[in-house]
Amino acid sequence: MRQLVTGGAGFIGSNYVRHVLAHTDHRVTVVDKLTYAGNRASLAGLPDDRLMFVQGDVCDAPLVGDLVADHDLVVHFAAESHNDNSLRDPSPFLQTNLVGTYTLLEAVRAHDVRYHHISTDEVYGDLELDDPARFTESTPYNPSSPYSATKAGSDLLVRAWVRSFGVRATISNCSNNYGPFQHVEKFIPRQITNVLDGGRPKLYGAGANVRDWIHADDHSAAVLAIVERGQLGETYLIGADGERDNRQVVETILTLLGRPADDFDHVNDRAGHDLRYAIDWSKLRDELGWRPRYADFGEGLAATIGWYRANADWWRPQKAATEAKYAEAGQ
Ligand code: NAD
Ligand code: TYD
Repeated sequence: MRQLVTGGAGFIGSNYVRHVLAHTDHRVTVVDKLTYAGNRASLAGLPDDRLMFVQGDVCDAPLVGDLVADHDLVVHFAAESHNDNSLRDPSPFLQTNLVGTYTLLEAVRAHDVRYHHISTDEVYGDLELDDPARFTESTPYNPSSPYSATKAGSDLLVRAWVRSFGVRATISNCSNNYGPFQHVEKFIPRQITNVLDGGRPKLYGAGANVRDWIHADDHSAAVLAIVERGQLGETYLIGADGERDNRQVVETILTLLGRPADDFDHVNDRAGHDLRYAIDWSKLRDELGWRPRYADFGEGLAATIGWYRANADWWRPQKAATEAKYAEAGQ
């Protein structure tokens, strides 16, 4: 099996590549544009004989066509992935998330190659804080931000290519991921590295917004289960019962790092900030027998903190520029 992994130098894509190389005998080609979010160092130390790296853009149709023709499966992670950036400048989100997905779909259609589409629970919009409901595969799409709207659009392109052209595809929509190699612009690594630098965590608004956290290793294992055993044309939600409000997460990080739990700042809220995400992942459990391994968020978070402490060389080059952008927005 030859897998083409787009965005494989990013946070979750690189985790998935490590997972596939460790748990299968598949060969992997990564195609990644190496935007600000991509980092070759995230793939360091992996076996050269089973992993090839191509720097390229998923919107480049001739390149994508050539690569797809040589593979049995495409797993599409590449995206502009950060909500706050999409509020500052939506244009790369439209290009990569919509045109990039369209370009891949045309290539898998032309070469009849199996395709798996990585998406987010944010396509469903948000839930009320006091609503016990969770998202399911039949929740209507209702995205809030330019990021989630372009991800929703890309999912709908996949569904259309399945129905109209018989493309052999599956889709997964996962909740918020944490773990090593996540860019310091994202919530958890931003707060960990702020504290490691002697600064304070920054909570948007009151910090009451809820996210449903899953370790990236569990996301990767679920994606591999879907590409190996999922039913073509189907969507699978991926989650791990990890609901926490942002304030709780910050308090846990501070406590694990030996600082007082109230040692954080409230900063400007995000425009249109989704209140709560929560995933019902029973379809994945019942159909494919998948279960998360990281049941204890505190343990996963402690290990993640340990990784950032030991790998300042990896995140340090991004930190100052990231914080400068937040400072401009009063965040
Ligand atoms: P990331 O920003 O860390 O990585 C994105 C990668 O894609 C980078 O390596 C970047 O260089 C590459 N890329 C961007 N534009 C490209 C282009 N035009 N051509 C080729 N490569 C390009 O993102 P992530 O957090 O790893 O997210 C990966 C996928 O998972 C995305 O599709 C995202 O929507 C989805 N997702 C993320 C989360 C989360 O919590 N981070 C949750 C659910 C789903
Ligand atoms: P983020 O990691 O950007 O993921 P998403 O927007 O996809 O959920 O943010 C997670 C939550 O943390 C979200 O409610 C926004 C909030 N947040 C903060 O409170 N402070 C921060 O510095 C950041 C980056 C996010």
